Amino acid sequence: MSGFGIVGTGVIAAMHAAAIATLPGARLAAVTDVAAGAAAAFAATRGCAAEPGLDALLARPDVDVVCVCVPSGLHAEVGVRAARAGKHLVVEKPIDVTLAAADRLIEAARTAGVALTVISQHRFDPGLVELKRLLGDGVLGRLVLAEASTKWYRTQAYYDSAAWRGTWAMDGGSLLNQGIHYVDLLRWCMGPVAEVTALCATQAHQVEVEDTALAIVRFGSGAVGTILSSTAAFPGFPQRLEVTGTDGTVIVEDGRIVRRAFGTQAGDAGPGDTGPGDGAIGAAADPAAIEVASHAAQIADLLAAIEEGREPAVDGQAGRDALEIVRAVYESARTGSPVRLTGALPS
Ligand SMILES: NC(=O)c1ccc[n+]([C@@H]2O[C@H](COP(=O)([O-])OP(=O)(O)OC[C@H]3O[C@@H](n4cnc5c(N)ncnc54)[C@H](O)[C@@H]3O)[C@@H](O)[C@H]2O)c1
Repeated sequence: MSGFGIVGTGVIAAMHAAAIATLPGARLAAVTDVAAGAAAAFAATRGCAAEPGLDALLARPDVDVVCVCVPSGLHAEVGVRAARAGKHLVVEKPIDVTLAAADRLIEAARTAGVALTVISQHRFDPGLVELKRLLGDGVLGRLVLAEASTKWYRTQAYYDSAAWRGTWAMDGGSLLNQGIHYVDLLRWCMGPVAEVTALCATQAHQVEVEDTALAIVRFGSGAVGTILSSTAAFPGFPQRLEVTGTDGTVIVEDGRIVRRAFGTQAGDAGPGDTGPGDGAIGAAADPAAIEVASHAAQIADLLAAIEEGREPAVDGQAGRDALEIVRAVYESARTGSPVRLTGALPS
């Protein structure tokens, strides 16, 4: 039995508690939060302890794994302390808001010999599992084009609901908070990004960060793609990933394949053609409207990784890779110039 502790008992902590409750080998032991009364109120309905601070939670021998559910700009700070206390880590996305902080966290976990997974729960959605299988089987041929789109809507009240939201220091904008999910999926399916050219705008909210980001991407493989992320797209639409190869295309919306068309000849939809599918609503307009199964699957993978002595499916480097793409988009939008990344272009 693995004991869990949750740090930060806000919106996403409820998802972690629900996910842990579905796993036979897991038990929520304790939670903590800096806001007065928050941890006690959270613990009261979940049958776990409320600790007065991080040190008290980390001192508990029945906490083996710590879920870091605090604002994004505090992930590394909390995660490093937990790693040094010998706790395995489930860190919410993004890994943090800067690459330097991400590196500190990855290094602390490595030095302490603890496992680190950065939440990207949509990798465990049925449509993404199937898409990765199809890519592994090579049915799309050579990949040439991909699009990752998050056209969501968030109200001004959402940004005003907590001081950290919509700030560069603690949150980042639409792309770093909401769009990063499908940035990670894009990177996972298409491989390393070599170069991005981007444009950002703040159009519908009183915030210092962008509420709309657009980028064109060149992958190391030579394939090209686009990234779009917005919290200004009323009323909110499914998150979408399209992957096109020389032999066909798969389109995923909110974690389900809604269209697949591939065959032996261009234009031949063939046996893989499913036509329109069952689009899901998801978190397009409501940040709390996400399903528990994929978080549970990622946490189960971490426990299996610890047991088997392997890296988790979504490790610290994967979290850093997604952040690196987002930071490159921001840098390109700021300077007006393309930004090169570490993914190599073909010679
Ligand atoms: N995977 C997803 O789909 C998903 C969805 C929502 C949020 N998130 C991520 O989860 C994180 C938290 O988001 P949220 O919406 O739950 O925020 P929130 O504001 O609802 O909750 C954050 C909580 O952390 C507490 N906190 C702040 N500093 C702390 C500290 N030093 N120690 C302990 N507690 C502290 C706050 O008091 C608050 O209760 C963010 O990084 C966000 O990107 C992920």
